[in-house]
Amino acid sequence: MSSFRAPKGTFDLVPPDSATFLAVREAMAAPARAAGYAYVETPAFEDTALFQRGVGESTDVVSKEMYTFEDKGGRSITLRPEGTASVLRAVLEHNLHRGPVPVKLWYSGSFYRYERPQAGRYRHFSQVGAEAVGVEDAALDAELVVLAADAYRDLGLRQVRLLLNSLGCRECRPVYRAALQEFLRGLDLDEETRRRIDINPLRVLDDKRPEVAAQLADAPLTGDFLCEACKNHHEQVRALLTASGVGFEDAPRLVRGLDYYTRTTFEFVHDGLGAQSAIGGGGRYDGLSESIGGPPLPGVGWALGVDRTVLALRAEAVDAPPAATVRVFAVPLGEDALRVLFAAVTALRRAGVGADLSYGGRGLKGSMKAADRSGATHAVVVGERDLEAGVAQVKDLSTGDQTAVPLDALVAHLQELLP
Ligand code: HAM
Repeated sequence: MSSFRAPKGTFDLVPPDSATFLAVREAMAAPARAAGYAYVETPAFEDTALFQRGVGESTDVVSKEMYTFEDKGGRSITLRPEGTASVLRAVLEHNLHRGPVPVKLWYSGSFYRYERPQAGRYRHFSQVGAEAVGVEDAALDAELVVLAADAYRDLGLRQVRLLLNSLGCRECRPVYRAALQEFLRGLDLDEETRRRIDINPLRVLDDKRPEVAAQLADAPLTGDFLCEACKNHHEQVRALLTASGVGFEDAPRLVRGLDYYTRTTFEFVHDGLGAQSAIGGGGRYDGLSESIGGPPLPGVGWALGVDRTVLALRAEAVDAPPAATVRVFAVPLGEDALRVLFAAVTALRRAGVGADLSYGGRGLKGSMKAADRSGATHAVVVGERDLEAGVAQVKDLSTGDQTAVPLDALVAHLQELLP
């Protein structure tokens, strides 16, 4: 060990677990990519004001959890706590919304929130996200939800529930907000929660403390206040999900921790995870563009938590899909054999067959152990006598069967064996 450890609330991804993370990221993005979402990458830090205006000053994310600092040029910079504000900023900056819409984008990366660390809650975490910008169509909301549900299904997760709600729009939300505030003012609440009623009353609905939750049973719900347009939109989303065979639960109390949501909001929860059960979430954000100084521009999207999804796989004892791995392990016995096998391994890799080599002049026993650890299905052993005979020994590591293959046919032989 050195004098240092990974900072509090962070962890390293090292083999063998790192392979699971990679496979989960790839599996999460795959359905979106196949549905026309193009890759986008934005900086890990932005102007602080982007998140203050986009995510909202009254949210915990902005008021308590941001990594904000002044850079050497005196600018206030914040490590991104989420991706939607950044992606929308990039869309506007590059005028993507003036081209064909919807602009469909996906991303994958690190995000930073100064939270109290616990299982499933970290200060540095990883999301895969997807956003569709420029079109106000309930079918897009449904498309995104289906893509996320498919990603979880493809990963083999079974205990995922989808919670669905509508938060209304700028027409009907204020009416609801006022009704909720009036209700909340009549409750027995502590000072801080009372302050919340003025700033962000919807978040009070999310309060899990039993003494608060007990008083919220009769709170007015968004669903009762939706305007006609919002009601229609929500019904369309529900109908399309049902038609796609994606099960959901109406969750009239689902409010999310970011201020930009309008209409559709959803969360994927996993029942094997305890307190940090949200493995992904998202929704529509038709007002976000204007709040960061852009034109009116509707949008909808999600972000799936990679770290929590890995925990969910563990909780269900599901193996992640195997990532591209080593399939052939080459064992050279002597320097001449090393030269021959180095060339063969290079050719195999170029032909798309994952291959590795025993380095460091290890003997046969140590090398065969390394071959087993590598996950390869076949080992290729070349010793001095093999070289004289112009052959390599190809060994099936599961059966132990061994065949001598002429060196000049080795690569073709393995390619055929491992298509
Ligand atoms: P979010 O719900 O804040 O939404 O985060 C999405 C997911 O990221 C969560 O469901 C969770 O799995 C994971 N996550 C969040 N915070 C942490 C943490 N501290 N540790 C581990 N995992 C975490 C958003 O970020 C929105 N930008 C989603 C979105 C996209 N809405 C519209 N488009």
